[in-house]
Amino acid sequence: MAVSPIVISQLSQLNFGPEDLTVMPTADRMIMTTPDHFEISYVINPHMAGNIGSVDTQRARQQWDELKSAFEACGTTVDVVEGMPGQPDMVFCANQTLPFRREDGGKGVVLSKMHASQRAGEVTHFKSWFGERGWEIIDDVFHGETDFEGMGDALWHRGKRLLWGGHGFRTDLSVYETISGKLDTPVIALHLDDPDFYHLDTCLCILDEETALIFGPAFEAEGLEMIRRFFPRVVEAPENEARELFACNAHSPDGKHVMIQRGCVQTNAALRDLGFTVIEVDTDEYLKSGGSVFCMKLMTW
Ligand code: ARG
Repeated sequence: MAVSPIVISQLSQLNFGPEDLTVMPTADRMIMTTPDHFEISYVINPHMAGNIGSVDTQRARQQWDELKSAFEACGTTVDVVEGMPGQPDMVFCANQTLPFRREDGGKGVVLSKMHASQRAGEVTHFKSWFGERGWEIIDDVFHGETDFEGMGDALWHRGKRLLWGGHGFRTDLSVYETISGKLDTPVIALHLDDPDFYHLDTCLCILDEETALIFGPAFEAEGLEMIRRFFPRVVEAPENEARELFACNAHSPDGKHVMIQRGCVQTNAALRDLGFTVIEVDTDEYLKSGGSVFCMKLMTW
């Protein structure tokens, strides 16, 4: 029996398990946004503090090119959206939308309402990109002051119609009620309260249907328990690798290879033990802005 659209924010509300979920095709393409205008011109998360004007543009371009090549070498098609002048964070293209699939195969996106006014202008470029390609566009999941930051906070369980929804910093819990109904999906909402882990994609990385890479202390006890109920295999990144190197902002395009910031020694050893092929990449120019592998791309179909 398919699980009805519902938002679960407490363990006691959880009345279904992984075996009850229906299938949603796993993303097989992605978008990346060119870093030509990437810079640090304001501070909207703790990682950016002290880094204004510090991006080495050439290095940033090289790191972006290498990440794109690594994804392509795994067989992923990467669609490129041009970055825009005056929008220095647009390169983090996981944040402006949440792509989804309908039961009948139709493709759509939920548009974000960025928490920081400095990033508000980014969304319209993605709206146009998807609109030109015929995707259904949902632009009314927020009301009043509520915010939603796309796949920074809302992550599809791999291959399943289940959304993991972070809230507390950039996204309000209330938007998930609307998203759940409009996308016909259950949502498990996880509260975040450590400012270094301001997006769910900084502390939860869904590697395959059964495996998650997490930084446990970023979650409340009930949230952790919900993660453990759905993922038989949980890899815990140590604090320095999660906080300084964004270990949990890794990404596996195919459930076999994992692209991750270079130097996550303990995390990588644990991933290799589970049979993953680790591909270390350099994203340190982007770490200065509070982002790494996962947020530099958007999963699509
Ligand atoms: N400077 C950007 C911000 O604070 C970084 C976003 C990184 N994205 C992510 N999904 N973690 O909004």
